Amino acid sequence: NNRFSFIDVSVEGSIGIVALNRPKVLNAINRPMVSEIVSIIEEFDRNDEVKVIVLCGHGRAFAAGADIDEMAEAGAIELELLNQFTEWDRLAWVKKPIIGAVQGFALGGGFELALCCDILFAAHDAEFGFPEISLGVMPGAGGTQRLTKLMGKSKAMEWLLTGDRMNAKEALHYGVINRIVAKELLQEETLKFANKIAKQAPLSLRLIKESVLKAVDYSVYEGMQYERKNFYLLFASKDQKEGMRAFQEKRRPNFEGE
Ligand code: CAA
Repeated sequence: NNRFSFIDVSVEGSIGIVALNRPKVLNAINRPMVSEIVSIIEEFDRNDEVKVIVLCGHGRAFAAGADIDEMAEAGAIELELLNQFTEWDRLAWVKKPIIGAVQGFALGGGFELALCCDILFAAHDAEFGFPEISLGVMPGAGGTQRLTKLMGKSKAMEWLLTGDRMNAKEALHYGVINRIVAKELLQEETLKFANKIAKQAPLSLRLIKESVLKAVDYSVYEGMQYERKNFYLLFASKDQKEGMRAFQEKRRPNFEGE
């Protein structure tokens, strides 16, 4: 797809695939790459053919962080006015599930991008970390917040203050990733999983994802009110009638996302 300079985009069946594509610099994330990622993911989110989105990296890394060459000479006021991270924030509004497949490094902004995914598969060689501290800066695209929500204050503090890299086993242990997969099978297993959930009722997928994300921010009480409204909302769908009728008629449901 010629529209993009820094990513490689394809659709396989009902899966929209976005691969970071600057392998020579380990997929270092520059600003135009972020724009491309966000724009195609939002497009997939609106495309009825696409049910699930997969995010991965070409070459030996997922992404070794924000592009240091682009940032090295930046000034504070320039960054404030550029307000670049609002673009990343839009990923949090995506309604379709995003599955990340990580091989090699997911560092700094690369780790933050991985943490924007709903489910993460990683190869044995995956390494996650926030090396910003060794550059005299800190994460700026959600790293301190998302890692802390995932693993708790003390552990997140340790990884963020040392900048140490966590291997795939550690990442699994701390609940950062869902599964470790052999490197040769990473793409295949990720797509297999994506296809499995792509078969579910689309509106259920959508409202379940939305409700789970609320659990991260809301109190249990508020979250449960939110969940309940979404539960009621699904009874306005044809797929709810179809799903329950199919059960009663002992056949497979045919979901249409309506
Ligand atoms: N930005 C720009 N270029 C990068 C890069 C980055 N984040 N990471 C790697 N590269 C480039 C290297 O400069 C190198 O380019 P050349 O071949 O032209 O020299 C190429 O990618 C390959 O990298 P290495 O030769 O360094 O490969 P390695 O296997 O020896 O080391 C590595 C791999 C440990 C990941 C090392 O590249 C590294 O430490 N990268 C920087 C990681 C980092 O600090 N990331 C955080 C960035 S800050 C951030 O992300 C802020 C934020 O929150 C938004």
